[in-house]
Amino acid sequence: MKVAILTGGGDCPGLNAVIRAVVRRGAAHGFDVVGVRDGWRGLVEDDLFPLGRDAVSGILHLGGTILGSSRTNPFKREGGSDAVRATLDRHGIEALIAIGGEDTLGVANRFHQAGLPVVGVPKTIDNDLSGTDVTFGFDTAVGIATEAIDRLHSTAEAHHRVLVVEVMGRHAGHIALHSGLAGGADAILIPERPVDLERVADHVRGRFDSGKRFAIVVAAEGAQVEAGTDQTIAQDLDEFGHVRLGGIGGFLAKEIERRTGAETRAVVLGHLQRGGTPSPRDRVLATRYGVFAADLVATGRFGQMAALRGDAIVAVPLAEATAELKLVDPDLYAVAEVFFG
Ligand code: F6P
Repeated sequence: MKVAILTGGGDCPGLNAVIRAVVRRGAAHGFDVVGVRDGWRGLVEDDLFPLGRDAVSGILHLGGTILGSSRTNPFKREGGSDAVRATLDRHGIEALIAIGGEDTLGVANRFHQAGLPVVGVPKTIDNDLSGTDVTFGFDTAVGIATEAIDRLHSTAEAHHRVLVVEVMGRHAGHIALHSGLAGGADAILIPERPVDLERVADHVRGRFDSGKRFAIVVAAEGAQVEAGTDQTIAQDLDEFGHVRLGGIGGFLAKEIERRTGAETRAVVLGHLQRGGTPSPRDRVLATRYGVFAADLVATGRFGQMAALRGDAIVAVPLAEATAELKLVDPDLYAVAEVFFG
């Protein structure tokens, strides 16, 4: 059976572990695996290459993706979806494994609805995909952000400053909430909970008044502070209709300093959260997802996504996984609030 595999959207640690697992498990199923370069772009433009066992040797611990990635949306390209079908037909591909987040898997689901044999694997550092408890890449990103917060603590304390740490999270604040909790942040600002800036300033003032002469504020890039304060790097929409967010940290730092008088600095972690080696937990999860995805293909269970529920890897319909985003658990946010007011 000829099986193609692609990685789409923002890269994240663990992609290579999934690819390796698909190829290794696929060998047992008799798959002939081909790699698609740069996500959906490779299928639109017929850019494929053979993916044998040698090609996936030594990549388990590597960040990025040996396939390359892009934010190409075939449904936004002239003749794009026909081109995808034509590429699959031309190469005799009988199944496609798409590794991605809401956008990539949303496209996968559309193709599945249109009759293509597609299986999904949930990827994103943002952890905002429904249907699965966790996406791979999230654990690594939280680890990187937590280490950054730990490091910023000592310098904030030494200089009696407020440090604002901007982390990724466009629509959901999972990374901010988890790293903020793990790193002992004094305030955590996320897209799901719009916060009055004066409340943040009050809290910082309170800390300084009580003798703690520093504070750490963690903000997701999509944090909602006040109407009209969305921070974007560029307004141009990508092919999935997203603007490029960024800058909330700098905005908050200026506002906090202005309102409290405390010297404030901003640090933007940005793509550091996506790069480098995956954590052991992500390597294991990605490997389990890859093996399971190959099994889904072998047993003809298309239109499904590998998902983690509790400790088990299960199949969930792509339609369910892409219907809506998974936002932060209000109970976990309530735990965080114990520590910041
Ligand atoms: O989708 C994951 C993500 O990390 C978002 O949190 C962020 O907004 C986006 O990727 C940025 O991606 P890029 O700079 O690669 O377009």
